[in-house]
Amino acid sequence: MFAPIFSLGLVLLPFVSAVVYDVQVGGAGGKLEYSPEAISAQPGDQVVFHFNPKNHTVTQSSFANPCGLKDDGFDSGFIPVPANQTDNLPTYTITINDTQPVWVYCRQAAKTAASHCGQGMVFAVNCGFDDAPNSFSNFKKSALAVGASLAAAATETTAPPATGSATAAYGDYTIPPAPEVTPVTQTVTLGEQVWTTTYNSYPGSPAATPVSAEGQVHRVIVGGPGKLVFDPPFVAAQPRDTVVFEFRQKNHTVTQSSFADPCRKLSANGVTGFDSDFIPVPDEKTSDYPTWSIVVNDTAPIWAYCRQKTPASHCGAGMVFAVNPVETSQRNFTAFQNVAKAINGTAAAANAPAPSSTSPAGNGAVSFRIGSAGLTLALAAVFASLL
Ligand SMILES: *[C@@H]1O[C@H](CO)[C@@H](O)[C@H](O)[C@H]1NC(C)=O
Ligand SMILES: *[C@@H]1O[C@H](CO)[C@@H](O)[C@H](O)[C@H]1NC(C)=O
Ligand SMILES: *[C@@H]1O[C@H](CO)[C@@H](O)[C@H](O)[C@H]1NC(C)=O
Ligand SMILES: *[C@@H]1O[C@H](CO)[C@@H](O)[C@H](O)[C@H]1NC(C)=O
Ligand SMILES: *[C@@H]1O[C@H](CO)[C@@H](O)[C@H](O)[C@H]1NC(C)=O
Ligand SMILES: *[C@@H]1O[C@H](CO)[C@@H](O)[C@H](O)[C@H]1NC(C)=O
Ligand SMILES: *[C@@H]1O[C@H](CO)[C@@H](O)[C@H](O)[C@H]1NC(C)=O
Repeated sequence: MFAPIFSLGLVLLPFVSAVVYDVQVGGAGGKLEYSPEAISAQPGDQVVFHFNPKNHTVTQSSFANPCGLKDDGFDSGFIPVPANQTDNLPTYTITINDTQPVWVYCRQAAKTAASHCGQGMVFAVNCGFDDAPNSFSNFKKSALAVGASLAAAATETTAPPATGSATAAYGDYTIPPAPEVTPVTQTVTLGEQVWTTTYNSYPGSPAATPVSAEGQVHRVIVGGPGKLVFDPPFVAAQPRDTVVFEFRQKNHTVTQSSFADPCRKLSANGVTGFDSDFIPVPDEKTSDYPTWSIVVNDTAPIWAYCRQKTPASHCGAGMVFAVNPVETSQRNFTAFQNVAKAINGTAAAANAPAPSSTSPAGNGAVSFRIGSAGLTLALAAVFASLL
């Protein structure tokens, strides 16, 4: 006789225990947040969103794309509330169907620097624990990264184009002014992995986002019989790519310089440029050429030269190289090579303009894995060691 009562209890249990959660959308002072930001709920529970003044939405996204509408996701639409309204706030209700995480954002000003989501206006039901890859803090971090990237893009497009020219102190040769670098944080999806990556970007830079965790390899031939060139003379590379220099005949170096002072090793503001040192290759050698590599850390142009001066300056003969020169600007590769030839390999005057085109050390691309759609066991990892 107990059996029917027992099964009746099971059927009624989810109904009697259904909980209604109240969440404030926006609030005093026009703050851009949901309060509380995260809850855990059971199937059958309801979440009632109360819209405070301003003009917000409650829109479903995904962990991988925190500020984008999920396919078939729910969306309250815009619910504008006048600033002087304090009661009878409009509401929007969702019902929790299962124990899977539900990710939510406000889509006001989407894809602009004013994006509410990009400023951290996100919410979650049943997200991972604090140390899990799909924790609420990782979700919010990823939304803020979207916002930082949108803000950086807005700065780039609204910044006035660099105009005018600076004149080098060592003569009447005109050096175009250096553009501004912008730190960029972007969310990158590699297969099933989601990362945020931070690096310095140049206006007009060919490299936007690293395409792979390992990066590509670019091969550059240095010298050769009767040749004072780097081949190719410049490459477009993305953060984390490697440039491998293969040294051919004669006795060359790859040495970092600056746009304004092409034939002298970079050393400014505590930053010392890279230098392969001299790598002599005998004329009779035909294979197994020695190599030397650099890793690209950001999209800022890298300028380099061969510092051999015997019997004549290789740099002055135009033996210079660049990574990510902005070919659409006054500081293109040809312009750099022209500066080298103009000063004919002589070290520029000591009061030459301080090189400003090189990012300070330690400003490399840094990537954090913030989650994994397939393998949720993976923990956040710092990729700086790859650099
Ligand atoms: C609310 O925001 C949407 C999207 O920005 C806009 O189209 C709409 O006009 C706004 N409504 C009010 C009343 O401001
Ligand atoms: C809010 O302000 C508007 C215009 O200033 C006014 O018409 C309206 O009555 C006010 N509402 C409340 C609830 O005070
Ligand atoms: C629950 O299911 C209903 C009906 O399929 C759907 O409209 C609603 O969006 C779902 N709720 C959530 C939180 O996904
Ligand atoms: C390579 O060049 C450097 C600088 O001119 C010189 O000191 C060195 O002896 C040269 N090495 C060889 C093997 O020629
Ligand atoms: C990239 O960063 C590493 C580590 O900070 C540094 O050793 C390397 O020289 C940097 N690469 C370039 C091209 O500056
Ligand atoms: C590239 O540099 C050359 C040499 O300074 C200059 O004549 C040319 O206008 C530059 N290109 C662009 C697109 O600015
Ligand atoms: C560069 O310097 C060499 C040797 O000092 C000289 O013979 C040559 O004429 C110079 N070239 C230019 C373009 O000034």
